[in-house]
Amino acid sequence: MYFLQSALFIYFTSTFNGLIKYMEQNKQLAEQTLYWLQQLNTNNIEEKAIKNINELKNVLRFNEYQYYVLNNAIISDNEYDALYKLLERIEKKQPELVTKDSPTQRVGSSLNEGFTTVQHLVPMLSLDNSYNADDLKDFDRKAREASKLNEIEYCVEPKFDGASISLIYENDLLVRGATRGDGVEGDDITTNIKQIRSIPLSAPFSKYGIEQIEIRGEVILTKQNFNKYNNWLEEQGLATVANPRNTAAGSLRIKDPKEVARRNLDAFLYHISYMNKYKLQNTKYESEPIALENTHAAQLQMLWNCGFRSPEKEKKIIKGIEGVIKYVLDFEQKRDELPYEIDGMVVKVNSIELQEKLGMTSHHPRWAIAFKFKARQATTKLLNVEYQVGRTGAVTPVAKLQPVAIGGVTVSSISIHNEDYIREKNLKIGDTVLIERAGDVIPQIVKSLPELRTGKEEDIIFLKECPICKSNLFKEEGEAVWRCINIECEAQVVEKIIHFVSKDAMDIKSFGEANVRKFYELGLLKDIPNIYNLNFEKIATLEGFGKKSIDNLKAAIEASKQQPLNRLIYGLGIRFVGETTAKTIANSVEHLLDFKNKSEEDLQQLEDIGVKVAKSIHHFFSNEQNILMLQQLESIGLALKNEKKAIVAGGLTGQTFLFTGTLNKLKRSEAEILAEQQGGIIVSGVSAKLNYLVVGEDAGSKLEKAKKINTIKIISEDEFLKLIE
Ligand code: IVH
Repeated sequence: MYFLQSALFIYFTSTFNGLIKYMEQNKQLAEQTLYWLQQLNTNNIEEKAIKNINELKNVLRFNEYQYYVLNNAIISDNEYDALYKLLERIEKKQPELVTKDSPTQRVGSSLNEGFTTVQHLVPMLSLDNSYNADDLKDFDRKAREASKLNEIEYCVEPKFDGASISLIYENDLLVRGATRGDGVEGDDITTNIKQIRSIPLSAPFSKYGIEQIEIRGEVILTKQNFNKYNNWLEEQGLATVANPRNTAAGSLRIKDPKEVARRNLDAFLYHISYMNKYKLQNTKYESEPIALENTHAAQLQMLWNCGFRSPEKEKKIIKGIEGVIKYVLDFEQKRDELPYEIDGMVVKVNSIELQEKLGMTSHHPRWAIAFKFKARQATTKLLNVEYQVGRTGAVTPVAKLQPVAIGGVTVSSISIHNEDYIREKNLKIGDTVLIERAGDVIPQIVKSLPELRTGKEEDIIFLKECPICKSNLFKEEGEAVWRCINIECEAQVVEKIIHFVSKDAMDIKSFGEANVRKFYELGLLKDIPNIYNLNFEKIATLEGFGKKSIDNLKAAIEASKQQPLNRLIYGLGIRFVGETTAKTIANSVEHLLDFKNKSEEDLQQLEDIGVKVAKSIHHFFSNEQNILMLQQLESIGLALKNEKKAIVAGGLTGQTFLFTGTLNKLKRSEAEILAEQQGGIIVSGVSAKLNYLVVGEDAGSKLEKAKKINTIKIISEDEFLKLIE
């Protein structure tokens, strides 16, 4: 809570270009956020929430906006989740309260069954390209001649490197999202679009008198989310993806909306292609609509004010082409500082009236042009392949390249992932390869160029032995990765420690990869528990370790003892257990060592934990050495207890419940609360993950379905009451 108050303080003391109204509205929402968080633990919270459901929805929308559009969250993920769950609970109790734009309505449970083709309201044109100052001057000259003006005002913004989309809002509601397709028709991808949290499900266009609007934009994947997604793929033993653009584009047409949500896509909206105003007598709004100024920049501002991530902050209004040229060239130098990929800038005539006058060719508008940055691809020679061993024993081949400069960075080695990848990309030692480096994104091989082969190239023959400990490598069926399974293999031990101290795990600042390697090589660090009893006297004798850096290190190590259980679990580096799974499993036990007694079947009952993950967790906790390590960590003072769970947990921890039919003694909502109070989880459908189906009178199809799954316990209301006694 302290965090929230201080964030609010900073938030309100910053200046906001005189947007007083906007600030006042947000101040109110921030205060309401605080209010709802405080109310969470009070008695009749659900009644209050039902009465003020619109306020609760607005609070959730506001916090989504803070997080996904402004990148300025004012509450923690857990606090957001608690408010979201409250809304979910009351909507379940009173389904008539669910509206199409409720924050709960993003989650798509069913799969997309193919995509229907839809027509855009206005064809989606592409942009003409320019590559240098002369091209831009040419574009400006034509525009000046056509408009008979001496100087033109431009609005210049980034050219986002993603996949274009088109959205339609009607009466303030998002009604359709579509891909570009051939420009005239695209695919209806509304369900997938709803997974993108920076796209609002409703927006107050009616304030501007707008009844229907079509907006264009770009779906992108930030560099950070791209790397996160690739790490996850690698952890799962799956093939990694080459760049954020292809991944964003591919994501739009995925069948499973949950998979779309996992990728954490973003969207920039940069163009209004169509607007239809309310006829005045039909307007349901009393006050006059806000007038729309007739410039592109003002339209970006309106989109921003309606809650979209438009390039409002990134755009710049510039008079005359000379200033534009300077600006785009300067921007190119800074492109790596952006958190997402751009492949150029878009120069747009600012006046909408002038845009209309200039019109368009059959391919592109005459009022806008793309300025393309230099490509960051290069060809070079693949000289050799070396192998690295990761913390899970995965052996990764790394191609050594003839050093080549791309976008100001010299690249001399590149991961080539696994044996399948080498085969798919048709790589041989001695090949000429095309490589791409996109910003902070790790360089990738786009393809080999077999047409340039001389016949002297050699096949890449994958190692059969671990390059470090020489034990035999193994490959599991259905996986692409060869592994060293010797858990004492030095390479794995070091990588495990590096992972344990890393930012997303125990976050032991000032430890870092280099220190782990150094201490390990010097024999000062041998395993994870050893982090907590380092010999600082010896470390003090090393170069670069003055009193201050040792004090910092000590303090960081000490502070890490207070990290929550989910971070510790993630830090253990159990295969397939990423940050999300770590949270799920941390919440399912009272004490970490309780996992010793859980079977693979028990683990599979947990949300999002399938056969593979359950097997891996079970394997980890069946290993005596691992248990010993956890006991050591506990005696050192690390928290293996789940504090929250210890308070609320009852006998039903982690068990799933579904109620069907009419209950006699309890209201369904009361029964659900009773189950939850004892640690039970309420689910919405019958599946193999359901533990208890509580059956009231006139139960129907759910009961029939449950009868077919013999692991589900079908009980009466009385039996349920006994269970929770
Ligand atoms: S305006 C009628 N603005 O670039 C004008 N396009 O090569 C519509 N793009 O199809 C386009 N960033 O997918 C515009 N700030 C931006 C853009 C942008 C990326 C994409 C868009 C377009 C392609 C043209």
